[in-house]
Amino acid sequence: MTDADRELLERADTVAERAYAPYSKFFVGAAVLAKDGRVFEGVNVENAAYPLGVCAEKTTLGKAVSDGVKPGDIEALAVTASPCGGCRQWLHEFGVERVIYRRANGDVAVATPAELLPDTFELEP
Ligand code: THU
Repeated sequence: MTDADRELLERADTVAERAYAPYSKFFVGAAVLAKDGRVFEGVNVENAAYPLGVCAEKTTLGKAVSDGVKPGDIEALAVTASPCGGCRQWLHEFGVERVIYRRANGDVAVATPAELLPDTFELEP
């Protein structure tokens, strides 16, 4: 793990305090480092209608895309939890080069989206 990866995870840890997670009380933060140096941060946002909640990775990627980031533009994404299955598909879609995440036992891991989700779903062959 590089110093930049460590810094990105620290930013994810800090922003996690702003998560809106009154139901699960599982506060998740994420930070995206774009290849042009911009950093975007986001948190999970839950809803009383539980399935409507959004993961921190999706919030953060949504912020980056809204500011012009495209698939292939992302150097790294750090997240304070182990990405859920659906978020792994998002990480694949945006071609994130490195994912830094914290496992349930507290260990920090670095992986590619392909390592996190093999045989990904593609709309076209
Ligand atoms: N959560 C995330 O934000 N990211 C993940 O990859 C794992 C799960 C959130 C969703 C929900 O608000 C809470 O954690 C409990 O599942």
